Amino acid sequence: ALEKSLRPQFLSQYIGQDKIKEQLEIFIKAAKMREEVLDHVLLFGPPGLGKTTMAFVIANELGVHIKQTAGPAIEKPGDLVAILNELEPGDVLFIDEIHRLPMQVEEILYSAMEDFYIDIMLGNGDGSRSVHLDLPPFTLVGATTRAGMLSNPLRARFGITAHMEYYNETSLEEIIKRTADIFEVDVIDDAALEIALRSRGTPRIANRLLKRVRDFAQIMGNGTVDKLITDKALTILDVDNEGLDYIDQKILRNMIEMYAGGPVGLSTIAVNIAEDRETVEDMYEPYLIQKGFIMRTKQGRKATQRAYAHLGYPYPTEN
Ligand code: ADE
Repeated sequence: ALEKSLRPQFLSQYIGQDKIKEQLEIFIKAAKMREEVLDHVLLFGPPGLGKTTMAFVIANELGVHIKQTAGPAIEKPGDLVAILNELEPGDVLFIDEIHRLPMQVEEILYSAMEDFYIDIMLGNGDGSRSVHLDLPPFTLVGATTRAGMLSNPLRARFGITAHMEYYNETSLEEIIKRTADIFEVDVIDDAALEIALRSRGTPRIANRLLKRVRDFAQIMGNGTVDKLITDKALTILDVDNEGLDYIDQKILRNMIEMYAGGPVGLSTIAVNIAEDRETVEDMYEPYLIQKGFIMRTKQGRKATQRAYAHLGYPYPTEN
């Protein structure tokens, strides 16, 4: 059995997101001291940055159970009622992709969040009646990839909002070393840094790349993950020296080759590279924007001079 689990259990083990940790530590302490539930927490941020992990850490720190579900899994009010019914006082209810809750479900959440009750309609027509159901006090932790996707009434009911950020190299390096330790694989410092630099600021990607590089080290080397084997593996995996993967590169090449760098709409890009618009918007675009490869304009997305340079295209002078 593993001594340490891959997911950190407590704030003290959670690497990075320092601002969020500092704040949560205070809010959690204060709520516990008052013997009250923690205010509802909304976690924003691109996939893979540890929103789910943070929800579990919050529950652990509070010393309560956590129930996990996701927006698309709750199709009708009854589904939510069933989940709410199982909560014990103080529990955490974690709803991932909370922006994808159906509207009638979202409306039930309002009173549940604000005053810990729900009114549900049973039956229909003349025979219908409203049933009032009191709930135990609980903490809703919601996670969403995009700030703009959440309705105002829902957003307003979260007392605590945390924007997760892409991780810096130092944090990613630390996460990679921690994971290597758990996997019992030797990783040389410069190799850990190289993986960190090429993980798109995302722990999920860092851990995945580490696993793949470990495979290469095992088969093509002596099992130790060093810089040479890392460079070789990442090249084979199509992760370039800026950490862009095959899809990132495809997006930029498509914009440059087919649309003279843009402006071009996100849906058009998505269709051209055969990906969901949501995937491009949630996973790829935020990182490409943060790295300065894409600009958002009113007319659509534009590839920057930096994108041209990185992919080896001459930058058109009239731009
Ligand atoms: N593994 C993945 N993300 C992590 C994080 N933020 N802290 C510690 N270990 C992790």
